[in-house]
Amino acid sequence: MVDETSHASGAPNQQTEAFYAVKFLRRKRFETLLLSSESCPVKTSSICGDPRNSCIDKVPMTKHPSPSKQSIVMLSSPKGGVGKSSLSRNILVLAAQAGRQVLGLDMDKQATLATWAERRERVRASIPAVSHIPVHRASLDDWRSTLKMARQSSADFIVIDTPPSIEINMTAILGLCEGSDFVLVPCQQSQDDLDSVIPWMRHLKQSGAKAAFIINRANIRTRSYATIRSKLLNVGPVCPVEIAQAEEISLANGKGLGVMDLSRPKNAEAFGALWSYLRQELDL
Ligand SMILES: Nc1ncnc2c1ncn2[C@@H]1O[C@H](COP(=O)(O)OP(=O)(O)OP(=O)(O)O)[C@@H](O)[C@H]1O
Ligand SMILES: [Mg+2]
Repeated sequence: MVDETSHASGAPNQQTEAFYAVKFLRRKRFETLLLSSESCPVKTSSICGDPRNSCIDKVPMTKHPSPSKQSIVMLSSPKGGVGKSSLSRNILVLAAQAGRQVLGLDMDKQATLATWAERRERVRASIPAVSHIPVHRASLDDWRSTLKMARQSSADFIVIDTPPSIEINMTAILGLCEGSDFVLVPCQQSQDDLDSVIPWMRHLKQSGAKAAFIINRANIRTRSYATIRSKLLNVGPVCPVEIAQAEEISLANGKGLGVMDLSRPKNAEAFGALWSYLRQELDL
């Protein structure tokens, strides 16, 4: 058993290293990962915990656009605690493992995504095979310049994590949605979630954004799952892959990892399918 209290800082000890043994990828893939981690657009030291240390000016600007197509995925929901940050980091990990040059934008003052990236860097100090995931922390007030910076960076896969209270700066949230190629709206299996995400999806559709719901913390064996899914389908597209309520998801999060960094994750199939779905939607 892993003692969860003995390394709350996120620094790995021997036990965690053994438990969270990073997947021993096939040699070629492993090399690709290392290569992509070295060529990341933001240096480890510029991952921001403090917005004053903005790494906006540290992201190398490319004079010529990146040869591979740049994609921007945004996670947005007016409901708090539904899995925006959790899905953001897992999607970043999936993209990095697929050889994409990733960049996360944390637009939430809580800085959940940026803090996770800092934890990840500490893990990487002892397990270098863990891919480097740069996360830039920014204020919603600076959404235009942040989006511009991301577009001009050499990153070809960008994930934007946003705060729940969209009404605080609706202009910024809608601007980011319009600037994204795809908006994922996480939703849990409750009427409270529906009450919050359904009007939001209608708003997104009116604004012309390409968006889909994704059911998170799903328990497909329950009746409420089918009910919630059909109610969502009445309003907009639903990602055909749901993410289960699973301890390994929060466990990986707490260690600066994504589910697909774990050895033999129980939810590997779901996350693999989520990546396939995103590739289809983004035409990658
Ligand atoms: N599928 C899941 N299974 C188990 N735990 C999950 C799952 N998805 C998210 N969690 C956990 O639920 C909590 C809330 O998730 P998360 O922080 O991603 O939500 P959020 O929408 O970003 O919240 P906020 O609105 O406050 O930014 C976290 O502790 C996360 O680890
Ligand atoms: Mg969050």
